[in-house]
Amino acid sequence: MARIRRPGLLVPAAALALSGCGSPQDTLDPHSPQSGDIAALWWWMLAVAGAVFLGALAMLGLAWLRRSRRGLPFFGESERATTGLVVAFGMVIPATVLVALFGVADLYLIKRTSAPAAGSSAMTVDVVGHQWFWEVRYPGTRAVTANEIHIPARTPVRVVATTADVIHSFWVPELNRKVDTIPGQRNSVLLYADEPGTYRGQCAEFCGLQHAHMGLAVVAQPRARFRAWLERQARPAAPPSAARARRGRRVFMANACSDCHTIRGTPAQGKVGPDLTHVAGRSTLAALTIPNAPRELAAWIRDPQAVKPGNRMPGLRLSPRQVGELVAYLEHLR
Ligand code: CUA
Repeated sequence: MARIRRPGLLVPAAALALSGCGSPQDTLDPHSPQSGDIAALWWWMLAVAGAVFLGALAMLGLAWLRRSRRGLPFFGESERATTGLVVAFGMVIPATVLVALFGVADLYLIKRTSAPAAGSSAMTVDVVGHQWFWEVRYPGTRAVTANEIHIPARTPVRVVATTADVIHSFWVPELNRKVDTIPGQRNSVLLYADEPGTYRGQCAEFCGLQHAHMGLAVVAQPRARFRAWLERQARPAAPPSAARARRGRRVFMANACSDCHTIRGTPAQGKVGPDLTHVAGRSTLAALTIPNAPRELAAWIRDPQAVKPGNRMPGLRLSPRQVGELVAYLEHLR
């Protein structure tokens, strides 16, 4: 490891990294009332913890000043004053501060950031964690997508989070708190965006080799555009007209692709990997790891393990020509 020559630079650099300043996943840059409350709580906790820390330093200073019984400053030699000091700063103040923070964080904020009750009129989106992608379903429609969750802006959405394998944690820092996906459990959280935009999220529970590359995006749209998007996603895939794409379709159906992926409206009904019915409409591949462009898509099909080591997609040893035809087919799935 290179020697760090200027440790003085480390502190501001670390502070910047911790604050997430300028990153698209900034808990202190809220875009919903829920994350606004969480950010406010964070600042309050920082202020209170800062005051407690300064108080502790003052007590330490006092103890140092009073290290001998002779010539004591402040309370002289009064035992009662000393006892009062210990009770106030050692018990009453810490207990009050901790109980108050617990009350705000757990009793008030958990409720404020929770999903609308099941059965309410709020729209529901089912999110299923997989090693390593997010499956997204819209109950009541046939729409299934992956990693890019579209929602209407300024509308409360109930996210029901489950898992197909291990524990993951669904987290979109600028919109709300985390919610874990736990085997055998259905957890829920509210998703709400103040305005249209794209908000990046991340799996926040270590779930294996590609945990760090288990990203997601929430795309909040004006309601009419969201409706149009959902209607398009619910349709089956249109058959390709171009000859190259038609050949690509045959490659897809004849190889293991169709055992793991579903393309609605075709015989491909695999359930291992993401639904690809409208894959060309997404802006990224492999849970936001690479852009969804022909070159990256070809590289991904040729050697998925090079892009995302450990993932469950095998390299199928296809010829360059077959890869090209597959890309042409997948690019047509809008
Ligand atoms: Cu999924 Cu970490």
